[in-house]
Amino acid sequence: IESAFGTGPLSDRRIVVTSGPTHEPIDPVRYIANRSSGAQGAAIARALADLGAEVVFVTGPAEVSPPAGVEVVRVDTAEQMRNAVHEALPADAGIFCAAVADWRVTNASGQKVKKSPDGLPRLEFAENPDILAEISGLGSDRPSLVVGFAAETENVLENATAKRRRKGCDWLVANDVSAGTGIMGGTENKVTLITEDGPEDWPRMGKDAVARRLADRIAMTLSGD
Ligand code: CTP
Ligand code: CA
Repeated sequence: IESAFGTGPLSDRRIVVTSGPTHEPIDPVRYIANRSSGAQGAAIARALADLGAEVVFVTGPAEVSPPAGVEVVRVDTAEQMRNAVHEALPADAGIFCAAVADWRVTNASGQKVKKSPDGLPRLEFAENPDILAEISGLGSDRPSLVVGFAAETENVLENATAKRRRKGCDWLVANDVSAGTGIMGGTENKVTLITEDGPEDWPRMGKDAVARRLADRIAMTLSGD
């Protein structure tokens, strides 16, 4: 599929999309990761590009390949992702699909950690920068539309509504990723879009369909509807 960059309802719009997991090193051969495949983020980036947007796609080490027609920035860690997002600004919208690791290891080893009769290795952690909250809190550089995602396994609506407020983003796309839904790593998604007007339940559909519907909504909002 060719990019529609230059034509379409999002032509002249620059949109930053984060996607995939991040990897936080423990030593040169080990890292902490999560189960994000990057499928929903890649689908959203493609849908935005199809509507003509200039998309900067900041991606961690995802299973899914980045779509054609976007500018790809590859990162490993949360800190690298944060820096890449700041470098990509200014933008009209920021869509934060990435499953950013909440913690990084502060005592990562420069050499491979070996088994030792003296005992087990101990990892120490620091909290990673919250990219979504940081961008939501920017002044004049803040994208006019900031969209976060929340993968929850319980009390989805309650947690996600509180998360939207805490992060300061405009919209929050919430989904239930508990075992049994088949959403994490699957091809379908069932989301609730939370805006200032409250929650909106979308039916379960393919991740591509969620992406197109969200991209249409973004186009409508950025054009001032
Ligand atoms: N996010 C981010 N940077 C982080 C953590 C999260 O940009 N360091 C973004 C994610 O990309 C997502 C949103 O924040 O859009 C919500 O992520 P989530 O992990 O659900 O929220 P947390 O604040 O990390 O809360 P929790 O303790 O539930 O993981
Ligand atoms: Ca988190």
